[in-house]
Amino acid sequence: MAPSSFDSARVVRKVRGRAASDGAGVKLTRVIGGPDLPDLDPFLLLDEFGTDRAEDYIAGFPDHPHRGFETVTYMLDGRMRHRDNHGNEGLLVPGSVQWMTAGRGLVHSEMPEQEEGRMRGFQLWVNLPAREKMTEPRYQEFPPARIPVARPAAGVEVKVVAGEVEAADGSRVRGPIEQPTTSPMYLDVALEPGAQWEHRLPEGHNAFAYAFEGEASLGSGGDARTLESHELAVLGGGDLLRIAAGPDGARMLLVAGRPLREPVARHGPFVMNTRQEVMQAFVDYQEGRF
Ligand code: FE2
Repeated sequence: MAPSSFDSARVVRKVRGRAASDGAGVKLTRVIGGPDLPDLDPFLLLDEFGTDRAEDYIAGFPDHPHRGFETVTYMLDGRMRHRDNHGNEGLLVPGSVQWMTAGRGLVHSEMPEQEEGRMRGFQLWVNLPAREKMTEPRYQEFPPARIPVARPAAGVEVKVVAGEVEAADGSRVRGPIEQPTTSPMYLDVALEPGAQWEHRLPEGHNAFAYAFEGEASLGSGGDARTLESHELAVLGGGDLLRIAAGPDGARMLLVAGRPLREPVARHGPFVMNTRQEVMQAFVDYQEGRF
């Protein structure tokens, strides 16, 4: 075994999402947050939505609350309008990212702004530590033109939403999202057929890859495992991740975050540290304090 393989990242386990329905009946695939992978600290939920059938998404996500964590919406296709009870409103278009810190609480809707055509994207929930759960709500929202693109290797294109990627010339490309506590990395990685890339994951973070087009091999040497479309790989071992695309290329989310290592008490849209805090969230919501 070469010395370098000691710090190679490898696939610890693979998970396939399960069909679920949320909001007013939107059909989606729950990858994190279901029985197979309840969470991956600091990540609480990953939903993939993707359909050409309007009846699968048209009902949208009418008014609902959140408290105690962040929701990250990344659109691939389609248009979604969000509005909250603090007067914030915005339109997500293909390639947009919305990193919403719900903090102490808000009530919002997320509704499709189209009646036909394709709707595709992801929602990720990122936990907040106890000391930040009751912060003021905050939005970091960026249209596609504000998401930098790195080309770190031949045939590899990376949209850097959060975190850093080292480009082929050694320069670093940094995403626009600021979140010092969990220090997230959120990359949309596209590889042409047969393309290869080695990327160093942030040290000490929990990390996963979720393939959504094609397939790729993850890991080095005898540890390499194939990740098919709509499979999530929990990554472990060292920090240096080797990705090699299959014959049809691949596209995947590559996500990492610093774990919080705090107790999690969650019920629906409220994620706190204790059951009592969750009960308080229900009371505050019902009494209009969001
Ligand atoms: Fe929401």
